Amino acid sequence: MTKKESFQQEFEQHVKEGLSKFPKFLSSKYIYDDRGDKLFQQIMALPEYYLTTAEFNIINQYKSDLRSLFENDKGFDLIELGAGDGKKTKVFLEELDHHKSNFTYIPIDISQHAIDELSSSIKKVWPKMDVQGEQGTYFKVLKQLAKYNKRPKMIMVLGSNIGNLAHAEAIDFLKQIQKIMSSEDRLFMGFDQKKDPLTIQTAYADTTGVTQEFNRNLLHRVNREMNADFDVSTFEHWEAYDPESGTAKSYLLATKKCEVNIKKLPLKVSFNKWETIHTEISQKYDDHMVEWLAKESGLQISQIFEDQKKLFKDYLFKKKI
Ligand code: AVJ
Repeated sequence: MTKKESFQQEFEQHVKEGLSKFPKFLSSKYIYDDRGDKLFQQIMALPEYYLTTAEFNIINQYKSDLRSLFENDKGFDLIELGAGDGKKTKVFLEELDHHKSNFTYIPIDISQHAIDELSSSIKKVWPKMDVQGEQGTYFKVLKQLAKYNKRPKMIMVLGSNIGNLAHAEAIDFLKQIQKIMSSEDRLFMGFDQKKDPLTIQTAYADTTGVTQEFNRNLLHRVNREMNADFDVSTFEHWEAYDPESGTAKSYLLATKKCEVNIKKLPLKVSFNKWETIHTEISQKYDDHMVEWLAKESGLQISQIFEDQKKLFKDYLFKKKI
């Protein structure tokens, strides 16, 4: 079975289970097809979506400190999980290129399209840069990353992508990263911070409706890839941020009673008026929570980087010895 076929099979299985459950659930990881990637790029450009600018500023401010972490004659491997369009990473790549650092950039993303675009855009600006992109989900690709053990590595997970995982899954994810790290390797990971709840609510419920289209793309994708007949406009985006747990939850909300036929599965799903499909969590953190996650995963925080507006933090971890 090809990678694409097994991904498709997994997606179908997921839809079957998620829409048969009560309450209904579909994972945000399936939003990212070509259209989903584009919509997420539009989200990153929204002024309400402060995360991208904040982390961009952190990397820009501390790029030389980050570069000097890996000044040795062996060079290093820079592995980025969930690279997307690489907008923030490119600031660091430019810094590395400018100082003639010896490194290989290995961007990994669930979207082949994103990897292709990123690789060709890097080729244009830095034709000699060693770039080895790979398509895959975090958990699958992590197993193959053990092979990068010839020289120190920096693993990057930006954008607070970890926030899409429930705590138990996040610990599992961090443990798997920890397993492939040696004592000289570092993990650089973005964690969006708890803050004024309204700032968070607004970032995920923008008035332009881009986030709604992003969320709805899950249904468009099921329609296209599983021959389903969701009337997508019936489903509205709903965002609920809970300041106690720090969890922002996204839903698709059926605004009328309806029945959907997913012919490829096959599966018929009925929705009551105001019934929900929970699609995404975007967890917000504080130092205490990140320390706990690190401890549970055998990691230790070695440095914390914060943007000037105090919205976002990147943590540098090493393996706990
Ligand atoms: C890409 C997972 C970091 O949760 O903030 C943006 C995705 N969802 N707006 C996030 C997203 C709605 C984003 N991550």
